[in-house]
Amino acid sequence: MTIPKIRVGVIGTGFIGPAHIEAMRRLGFVEVVALAQNGEEKAREKAAKLGVPLAYGDYRELLLNPDIDAVHNCTPNHLHFEINKAIIAAGKHVLSEKPLAITSRESAELLRLARERGIVHGVHFNYRQFPMMKQLAQMVKQGEFGPIHLVHGGYLQDWLLFDTDFNWRLDQAAGGRSRAVADIGSHWCDTVQYVTGKRIAAVFADLRTIHPIRKKPVAGGVTFGLQTDGGETAYEELPVITEDHASVLVRFEDGSKGSFTVSQVSAGRKNALSFELNGSRKSAHWKQEEPASLWIGHRDKPNEVLMADPSLFLEEARASIHHPGGHTEGWPDSLKNMMLQYYTFIRDGKDPSKDTPSFATFEDGHLSMCITEAILQSHEEERWINITT
Ligand SMILES: NC(=O)c1ccc[n+]([C@@H]2O[C@H](COP(=O)([O-])OP(=O)(O)OC[C@H]3O[C@@H](n4cnc5c(N)ncnc54)[C@H](O)[C@@H]3O)[C@@H](O)[C@H]2O)c1
Repeated sequence: MTIPKIRVGVIGTGFIGPAHIEAMRRLGFVEVVALAQNGEEKAREKAAKLGVPLAYGDYRELLLNPDIDAVHNCTPNHLHFEINKAIIAAGKHVLSEKPLAITSRESAELLRLARERGIVHGVHFNYRQFPMMKQLAQMVKQGEFGPIHLVHGGYLQDWLLFDTDFNWRLDQAAGGRSRAVADIGSHWCDTVQYVTGKRIAAVFADLRTIHPIRKKPVAGGVTFGLQTDGGETAYEELPVITEDHASVLVRFEDGSKGSFTVSQVSAGRKNALSFELNGSRKSAHWKQEEPASLWIGHRDKPNEVLMADPSLFLEEARASIHHPGGHTEGWPDSLKNMMLQYYTFIRDGKDPSKDTPSFATFEDGHLSMCITEAILQSHEEERWINITT
């Protein structure tokens, strides 16, 4: 007997949408049946390119299709609230890109609506899905490091270094009141909170905008795009008020502390998410760009490097590593793990009000919004701000 596949629609197919589609296709029990874009022609072109059977020029038409079980929202930030709300109202499971919304008021409402409707809700915080993060979280849980005193690190990129670099994220109306913090700091916070099992309770932040005026190409720009026209582009000036970088002190709920730096203007740093945790027994350091290694630091014996390897991993981490040691799994594999966790939860008929998923949910997405807003408030008022959800 063949078990029917879970049928999925994807809204928005720029940079991250196709990565979702590829990850879902690796599962075997999920089928991408439709996509939606803003505009019929663009939708049809994308569907042909990605081999997706149905194309909609308006996401509301996709939501009317009764054969679609779950919908991914991969659109720019300002559309997350409206589209997530419509997906919930259509009674379909929803996997939203981060940030969950533009304000915590909106994210609180989405969480409430998703719970009321009983659908499975997820937010695409994919870094916690790396095999090594599952292993580290389990090591921390088992007390290998002792109580964690200190967590520090950062998330650095360089794709917005020049004033001619442009993306919709720079426009507050599309990206929201925060940029570097909401876009990548949110990933750092989710990963670190997942690994330590502790929530961030308060923040003290200092933000800066390097380019208050940017040059926006009249023809628009693409995510992670390079200017390759040899200086021929026509620009218009765009005032920018969102932060290019931020330094944030954090206090966790148990009183332990830490700090992180986020930046989209650090030359040479591409997707440099990293952190170190220092416990009473030992330390650990991990960087996303070399995801198969975990440095483990000791006081009284030589330090170690743990290589990702199912035969060396704890049982709880093994479901997230799919290849033998040395066959390095990376960023696209973290998306596969996110989809695997999310769709296994749906396939197994789990109840989001009773079962705790190991993927990020709207609850985590809402917490993330509250942390971002506290960081903005802390910068404005130059003081510690407690996180309230
Ligand atoms: N989790 C991650 O690691 C990760 C990585 C990149 C982006 N993201 C998130 O994904 C989202 C999209 O980012 P991106 O980099 O892919 O942006 P992008 O600009 O490359 O793609 C956005 C897509 O949305 C489409 N779109 C715009 N308006 C629409 C509408 N009304 N209806 C349907 N489609 C519409 C655009 O045509 C485009 O295809 C953002 O919220 C971003 O924060 C997450």
